[in-house]
Amino acid sequence: MKNNIVLIGFMGVGKGSVAREIVRQSGMVAIDTDDIIESMENRKIKKIFAEEGEPYFRELEKRVSKWLRVSVNNTLISTGGGFFKVPKVHEVGTIVLLDAPFETIYQRIIDHPRAERKLKKRPLFQDIDKAEALYNEREPQYRAVADLVIDVSDKDYETIAKEILEKTGK
Ligand code: S3P
Repeated sequence: MKNNIVLIGFMGVGKGSVAREIVRQSGMVAIDTDDIIESMENRKIKKIFAEEGEPYFRELEKRVSKWLRVSVNNTLISTGGGFFKVPKVHEVGTIVLLDAPFETIYQRIIDHPRAERKLKKRPLFQDIDKAEALYNEREPQYRAVADLVIDVSDKDYETIAKEILEKTGK
């Protein structure tokens, strides 16, 4: 059985920030699937979507997931919001869903000092109604795939990270 922790959840829910806090508390090594794809391609996600289209990006996610399944252990893996759909995702590690209502996620993004940049870099968050529809479509799918659901609505990153480490036995 794989020893990795895999953070999944909607765009802007805080996967990256939670990952950094888990690293701080546990000393685990962390990687991010979007970062891996950007370095494989030497271009930003936004550019990959614009120049190649979404299906190309999803193929890259599958390639990364296969490598994670075969070659990576004892690692904290944060993922892009759609990564959970790759085949055999359970073989990558323990799937931890960071969960919050859409309104909370959106409010947090727009309250952020670099809100504009946060929205601009996400091709699937250009239109709020479309993003909300995608959230509604995915929410049950995230839950179906998760080994562990963490409600992140009213908690700081330190508390969330601690809860994840406790519940995954790290
Ligand atoms: C996506 C989420 C993004 C990134 C890409 C597609 C999605 O990652 O992988 O823009 O399908 O939800 P974040 O969740 O880090 O924004």
